[in-house]
Amino acid sequence: MSAVDRKITTEALRQMKQAGQRIVALTAYDWTLARLLDEAGVDVLLVGDSVATVVQGEDTTIPVTLDEMVYHARLVARAARRAFVVGDLPFLSYQISAEDALRSAGRLMKEARVEAVKLEGGRAVVEAVARLVTAGIPVMGHLGLTPQSIHAFGTYRVRATGADDAAQLLADAEALADAGAFAIVLEKVPATLAAEVTRRVPIPTIGIGAGKHCDGQILVTHDMLGLFERFKPRFARRYRELAKEIRDAAAEFGLDVRGGEFPSADESYGP
Ligand code: KIV
Repeated sequence: MSAVDRKITTEALRQMKQAGQRIVALTAYDWTLARLLDEAGVDVLLVGDSVATVVQGEDTTIPVTLDEMVYHARLVARAARRAFVVGDLPFLSYQISAEDALRSAGRLMKEARVEAVKLEGGRAVVEAVARLVTAGIPVMGHLGLTPQSIHAFGTYRVRATGADDAAQLLADAEALADAGAFAIVLEKVPATLAAEVTRRVPIPTIGIGAGKHCDGQILVTHDMLGLFERFKPRFARRYRELAKEIRDAAAEFGLDVRGGEFPSADESYGP
């Protein structure tokens, strides 16, 4: 269980960084799993646009719409009692203008009841970040491998390995913090760079493939549970192999139905 027993807020996350207490974050997309993760003491539930790949079966996160994000975020927010719920702003729902970002974030707050939003990018999005923060919307940044830019990157390889790119990422992180972001996800960057960002910015860093010196860690729940088998990033430790469990359970059910073993008398209604 986390060191923080009360409802998690941005202030609680800030205090956790200061106290050196690691933040535990996972993605969630529906009520059932979100409730279980909340009960397990996860601090932050991110309704990630990874819903596109691990739930909708898309190849990238780009196709998921704001309407779909609002739908999934509402299910998660309904389940969370203690965890802080963050909703991802999907591709093109915040890049056009700060006003557009505010409208999109406002929908996630009002219609889905998330407590914060996440968006990808650094200095290119600080105007939007500042606009949201001014409107009272907590913002989580996301730097490094930002999946909405996958076609610009061309590969899912580790980002910011060179000195110039590392300096750019540091400047982006500082700009996000200055614009009022309350936390930053660092995805697939060298551990030394993530450690440096974590030292430099006053807000929590949440790593995914960014080494152990971040203030917290996040994984995609479907990776962590071994539910998503299409590919396995090196950083995605699997705590269970649920895909196998589910296939085995469904096969057993099939055997029972075909063999006349299900339902039994106890599972049927009389007289
Ligand atoms: O969409 C997502 O799941 C994310 C995490 C990988 C941080 O952005």
